[in-house]
Amino acid sequence: MSFPCMELNRPELFDFHGVSMTHYFTDSWDKVQNFKARPDDIVIATYAKAGTTWVSQILDLLYFGKSDPGRQTSIPIYERVPFLEIRIRNVPTGAELAEKMTSVPRIIKTHFPVQFVPKSFWEQNCKLIYVARNAKDNVVSYFHFDRMNIVQPEPGDWPSYLQRFQEGKVVFGSWYNHVKGWWEKKQTYGNIHYMFYEDLAEDTAQEIEKICSFLNISPTQEEKDHVIKEVAFDTMKKNKMANYSTIGVMDFKISPFMRKGKVSDWKNHFTVAQNEQFDEVYQKKMANTTLRFRTEI
Ligand code: A3P
Repeated sequence: MSFPCMELNRPELFDFHGVSMTHYFTDSWDKVQNFKARPDDIVIATYAKAGTTWVSQILDLLYFGKSDPGRQTSIPIYERVPFLEIRIRNVPTGAELAEKMTSVPRIIKTHFPVQFVPKSFWEQNCKLIYVARNAKDNVVSYFHFDRMNIVQPEPGDWPSYLQRFQEGKVVFGSWYNHVKGWWEKKQTYGNIHYMFYEDLAEDTAQEIEKICSFLNISPTQEEKDHVIKEVAFDTMKKNKMANYSTIGVMDFKISPFMRKGKVSDWKNHFTVAQNEQFDEVYQKKMANTTLRFRTEI
């Protein structure tokens, strides 16, 4: 699958049912809303740049690393784990890729806020893994991603981007509403495993154990060790089937997809004043939740 990047223009952001979106993620809205989930589908849901690819690679290896090892060396991650809501002209949409998948389970990625998730996933009682990342590292990662990816709106400079992030004026809307919305859903829907990028960075093996327990799978120690080795940042950065280097819409000369993979990189970007202002807004927006993040480990 190649992307005709020369024909693509940076999109405009607009309000879509109360969430900032671009046409790339709303053009197939009806098809996506009518998507027919299967009970064994597994969804990886995240706010963009929270560790989606990392957890996608973990799940794909857990399920297919042994039975179909050629899959990880020949199929890029965006085809092994389709991005449900994406629609780019002249390439199969995420929903189409998912529909055509023959491997079981289908592992499907979404960046939708919880209220946008097609109802079929809830009706089928599918398992969903939500990965959350602290807001400060998330916004830094998102800024660099928007700089290098033509499918995203023009990010502008860092101070203005940081401001717009806090106002929810970036693709997929407010980070605060996203992480809180999924957290609230978890209180009433049993099949959500809510996990954190910081925990995965601190103790990958332990987080993989929790994922296995949630998914009710029992890989051998050897299989788990293989997964841990394959999903180390430096290994994934070199892996063409995981590092997005085969996609035409990203300019790695500006910033690579596998950029730093660290907790606390925000300290290299926020000024003292920006940090104080951010904390003040954060306290207000996160006052009504029990959800807690770590900005360092
Ligand atoms: P940085 O930009 O901070 O480096 P997503 O997959 O949701 O788009 O998230 C991308 C972010 O996850 C990037 O963060 C990327 O480097 C990081 N990432 C991807 N794979 C990783 C890994 N194996 N270990 C640590 N971080 C990883």
